[in-house]
Amino acid sequence: MAENEELPIHRLLGEETLVAIVAGFYRQVPGDPILGPMYPKQDFAGAEQRLRSFLIYRFGGPPDYLRDRGHPRLRMRHAPFVVDRVARDRWMELMMRSVDEQVAAQKVSAEHRAYVERFLGDIATFLINQA
Ligand code: HEM
Repeated sequence: MAENEELPIHRLLGEETLVAIVAGFYRQVPGDPILGPMYPKQDFAGAEQRLRSFLIYRFGGPPDYLRDRGHPRLRMRHAPFVVDRVARDRWMELMMRSVDEQVAAQKVSAEHRAYVERFLGDIATFLINQA
């Protein structure tokens, strides 16, 4: 696979598995000492919906996110939050823990796991906005 080639993850994993990955991530967020306080306490369900819709779109599924939220502008949308290396690494840790539950359930292959880790990891690094 070429370095810049994108896998149709939405089709390969199926929407149900993507939904489960985002749900597994958000289950951990409220109790996390670094990430928990950053997310809107009254609207965890809304935050989960926004990330789910973005990932479905970005992984090649229906682009409902664009209709509902417009251009992602992820760096701008993360500007209000302190995204340093520690927050970035914690975000990836919670996300990959959730992905690994789907690997254990045989919903995600080792190859697709590696792809998703690099894909999300690159965006997470790009979102770092302070040392
Ligand atoms: C690097 C560590 C990250 C931190 C600390 C972080 C934190 C946050 C916070 C606090 C929100 C606001 C929650 C809400 O009300 O929607 C948010 C929104 C969002 N984040 Fe992140 N995030 C990180 C990485 C990522 C990554 C890697 C992605 C994409 C793969 C992503 C995609 C999004 C999206 C799509 C939204 C909703 C944007 C909108 O439509 O308003 N984030 N993030």
